[in-house]
Amino acid sequence: MTEKLNQILNEAKAEIAKAKSMLKLNEIRAFYTGKKSPLAEMMKNIASLTIEEKKTLGSASNKVKQEIELAISQKRNELENEEINAKLNAEAIDVTLPGYDLKNGSIHPINKVIEELEDIFIGMGYKIAEGPEVEIDVFNFEMLNVPKGHPARDMQDSFYINDNVLMRTQTSPVQVRTLLEANGKPVKIVCPGKVYRRDDDDATHSHQFMQLEGLVVDKNITMSDLKGTLSMLMKKMFGSERKIRFKPSYFPFTEPSVEVDVSCFKCGGKGCPMCKHTGWIEVLGAGMVHPNVLKGVGYDPNVWRGFAFGVGIERVTMLKYGIDDIRNFYTNDSRFLKQFEGER
Ligand code: DAH
Repeated sequence: MTEKLNQILNEAKAEIAKAKSMLKLNEIRAFYTGKKSPLAEMMKNIASLTIEEKKTLGSASNKVKQEIELAISQKRNELENEEINAKLNAEAIDVTLPGYDLKNGSIHPINKVIEELEDIFIGMGYKIAEGPEVEIDVFNFEMLNVPKGHPARDMQDSFYINDNVLMRTQTSPVQVRTLLEANGKPVKIVCPGKVYRRDDDDATHSHQFMQLEGLVVDKNITMSDLKGTLSMLMKKMFGSERKIRFKPSYFPFTEPSVEVDVSCFKCGGKGCPMCKHTGWIEVLGAGMVHPNVLKGVGYDPNVWRGFAFGVGIERVTMLKYGIDDIRNFYTNDSRFLKQFEGER
């Protein structure tokens, strides 16, 4: 019997020593300490022994069991240590490796121009306004004097979310929002922001681009205020020599409406390829706020007057930096963007 016990112990120890994983070790533990273990089987067949013999065998078998358990727990510690060491080795930091070269980004030319425009207007006492890009038709068109079916809508085909909600086609709805919020008080704001149109993308068109809206409403506003403001804007953007001129135009929300040209900053107005030999470059639309717009937001057009303008930010940026394709702004080729490094 003692021999048999020793045999079980030796076999168990040999198997434990061979175990290479926790999984295997657990299997061994289940086999040698479970109900059907060789020890348990052995103890089942001791009916013929005397009580004394049974006692001796019982305690010897318990000892063997304890030894097996001890061997298993030692092996478990060993395996755990191996696992930790392997992990530490795998995660070791090689301090001789060169560090990552973190490339500095730079301001996007569009953002640079927006900041410049905002600075100019803040300097003239304007506030910066904001409005949502997902807009209701009522603000984007109707309250800007463009009812459903108005032909001006054809020029600004948009992405509709439903019959009454669309991606705004212009920043002009911010005029309506600002006036409603001002609730009868004077207003002097600019609003830069994204606009969306169902246009096919090419060198000068994009289904998403940016505008800067301007709006001034007060009691004694005249067209000469508009002219002075835009003249100052163009001098600051394109050089102090610049002149502007107004050409009659049409926008539903202004009356009269004008198209604004700036004298060519490349040739000074003599004529060159940049200005198509006219000496002038068209830059924005503007006008005096239409009485219907004022009425719609609760301003009496006999008391209040205002001017408004809308600048295409990409267009101004393209002119300023001689960029010939609007898609450059959005395709994010780092070679293009790199040219504006250190521009802030
Ligand atoms: N919203 C016009 C457009 O997208 C631009 C514009 C023209 C805005 C005249 C104005 C304005 O505020 O007075 O074509």
